[in-house]
Amino acid sequence: MKRILTGITPSGYPHLGNYIGAIKPSLDLLDEKCESFLFIADFHALIKVKDAKLLNDLTFQIALAWLASGLNPKKTFFYRQSDIPEIVELNWVLSCLTEKGLMNRAHAYKAAIDVNKVSNTKELEEGISLGLFSYPVLMACDILALNATHVPVGSDQQQHLEMTRDIAGKFNRIYGETFNIPEGVIGAEKTVLGTDGRKMSKSYNNVIPLLSTEKELESTIMKIVTNSQEPGEKKDYVNNILFDIYSSFASAPQIADMRQKFDEGIGWGEAKKIVYKDLNETLEPIREKFYQLQNKKSEVEDILKENSIKVREFTMPFLDEIRSKIGIKSL
Ligand code: TRP
Repeated sequence: MKRILTGITPSGYPHLGNYIGAIKPSLDLLDEKCESFLFIADFHALIKVKDAKLLNDLTFQIALAWLASGLNPKKTFFYRQSDIPEIVELNWVLSCLTEKGLMNRAHAYKAAIDVNKVSNTKELEEGISLGLFSYPVLMACDILALNATHVPVGSDQQQHLEMTRDIAGKFNRIYGETFNIPEGVIGAEKTVLGTDGRKMSKSYNNVIPLLSTEKELESTIMKIVTNSQEPGEKKDYVNNILFDIYSSFASAPQIADMRQKFDEGIGWGEAKKIVYKDLNETLEPIREKFYQLQNKKSEVEDILKENSIKVREFTMPFLDEIRSKIGIKSL
């Protein structure tokens, strides 16, 4: 049986990129014939978020985003990473198997080093925590503690998944077959672009929030960067930020329609109005559910707690098995 698993790190408020890139493809993938584990990677967020109150709130907001988007916690194991202590226990075990050189190649670590290089920081490793450095091992533990078979991720996470496969293979070779070698299911073909044309990311401050008011949504759409072409001039939809953003959520007929309007020279203001209207329609039901759940924090907490108990029914005996295989057991 397929066992699908994926997580979202609560290091920022949920945005359209999370929905299109992670939430929707994961939910679309689920059917009666699979088991699914969807979780909030709060320990991962700790690498970036050092404000306790903020981390707690972001965790709640990401939980709301999953639930408002249609996750059914009766059919899917929906939990918080930090409620499963076996994940961090496995983290030590697998850290002892993972070569430092493998982590040296991780994109996030290399990017942090590059930032220091460019800004001429004295120490190349300044500001880089061990947590950031070994991030991919913790991610491997999320996946392997549940022995997942399929992991839907954005293309930026592909490298982490390769590392997970490496680590799992190494464990199996040394201690005997234990872990499935998980497959990545690469979701959105194209990365969802932000309002400035770079990848939509909280660190670039270019996100379209998933859970905003209609007014806020409208003003964000109006901020999408376009060029100085006048209404009436034919617009190029290749490499156009507004068109790319529209294509990430609109239906095929809507996209075809927009293409024609670009050919006919629609003005940017008018095009943005259509983008806003159609996106607003897509987000309306999510927003509705979000507002309903927003005041039910304790219910959301109960859902996470109940699910973590069920998840641990698997992870506890699995970790016992692993301990025994590596020689950590009673004499
Ligand atoms: N690293 C992922 C991201 O930033 C989030 C994540 C953490 C994850 N653990 C995971 C995704 C396990 C899939 C499987 O998007």
